[in-house]
Amino acid sequence: MRVVMVGTGYVGLVSGVCFADFGHDVICVDKDPAKIETLNAGGIPIFEPGLEALVAKNVRAKRLSFTTDLKAAMKEADAVFIAVGTPSRRGDGYADLSFVYAASEEIAQYMEGFTVIVTKSTVPVGTGDEVEKIIEKHHDTDSFAVVSNPEFLREGAAITDFKRPDRVVVGTENPKAKEIMRALYRPLFINETPILFTSRRTSELIKYAANSFLATKITFINEIADLCEAVGANVQEVAKGIGLDKRIGSKFLHAGPGYGGSCFPKDTLALARTAEEANVSLSIVSSVIDANEARKRRMAHKVIDALGGDLTGKTIAVLGLAFKPNTDDMRDAPSLTIIPRLQDKGAVIRAYDPEAIEEAKGLLKDVIYMDGPYACLEGADALVIITEWDEFRALDLRRVKAALSKPDVIDLRNIYQPKAMQAAGFNYNSVGRPD
Ligand code: UDX
Repeated sequence: MRVVMVGTGYVGLVSGVCFADFGHDVICVDKDPAKIETLNAGGIPIFEPGLEALVAKNVRAKRLSFTTDLKAAMKEADAVFIAVGTPSRRGDGYADLSFVYAASEEIAQYMEGFTVIVTKSTVPVGTGDEVEKIIEKHHDTDSFAVVSNPEFLREGAAITDFKRPDRVVVGTENPKAKEIMRALYRPLFINETPILFTSRRTSELIKYAANSFLATKITFINEIADLCEAVGANVQEVAKGIGLDKRIGSKFLHAGPGYGGSCFPKDTLALARTAEEANVSLSIVSSVIDANEARKRRMAHKVIDALGGDLTGKTIAVLGLAFKPNTDDMRDAPSLTIIPRLQDKGAVIRAYDPEAIEEAKGLLKDVIYMDGPYACLEGADALVIITEWDEFRALDLRRVKAALSKPDVIDLRNIYQPKAMQAAGFNYNSVGRPD
């Protein structure tokens, strides 16, 4: 099949290269010449494990190319994916669909023959109807179909999530479009991946409902962690105890400093706005949004209290800045809420992150960025772990203790065990576990 992928961000690039790796011919299109130039030179504008090698393999196999020329790319395209950004609109949390509609207008100009236009970006319920209206201004309704095909990719695991998804969701009632979508995803049927065909609006809502449920699950265990601290229980064991119930499942029950990223914060807000517009109360989603924001602020106070309240002149070593490991993405990262509050209390912050420092430099001011965990720790008065990168999981505790001027450790990701840390002589604080 010939596939055009409009947008070479994290979703478009991963989806494009994986479709190419399935054997399809894929042309990725982006308006940004610099991005296309980087990609054509073999560079990858984002950090995603395994992406660079997969792109190189498929470019070599001539199944994948990059261009700014949508018109040329659209020749004989069987399916055109819209994978452009749908950021939260400043101030009101609605999804900004201007890039989606601009792409739709452009696609409409260059379509030839029956074309499937697929919204891969996360778009509010009803967006497919709006895209259809845009295309209809230029083409008969029987010469195209607008299809919803939401992505369920986690940053840092995006290629695996695309190639071995729990399910593929396709929103269309058009028989020809169904056939084309089946052909696109055929390589997945080798391992019986379920493909769910449903209406377009249902498909659009499935994406928001999935992310909002996952955000709810995380927020639930985060609040249970607060209760554990108050009553002397262990949240990791509570998570294990409830997660063994197959109706609950063990995933997404790791208590931490609150969720971040480019999806959960944006998608929960957008779903809440959709509900408001439909005059429906989604009280749980709304409370998850508020609870998560409050938690990130509270984590700063947890650190401040653990260090005695006054941080004037204290140097704090922060390990981890990205919103989660295996990504350089800083969007809505808890570190963006926590670090400024520590600085407001007079702390001097030294920070290290394996991938996110360049991103962080534009977002966190007056931070001293170090090039490794031990350099970051040297001479600091306390250690705060914010992101659970693998390289922070087996630090040499003797070296850590020797490097710190005081053995104060606040572990917001429960990487270490309280007893082992206390035995090693640390004043150890963590999340939801008796210290
Ligand atoms: C998420 C969804 O998982 C994915 O299906 C969707 O397509 C996009 O949004 P992503 O945002 O990349 O993916 O990261 P994810 O791994 O889901 O983590 C989201 C946030 O939740 C991170 O801040 C992470 O630290 C936090 N988290 C996750 C927890 O605090 N505890 C957990 O148990 C799991």
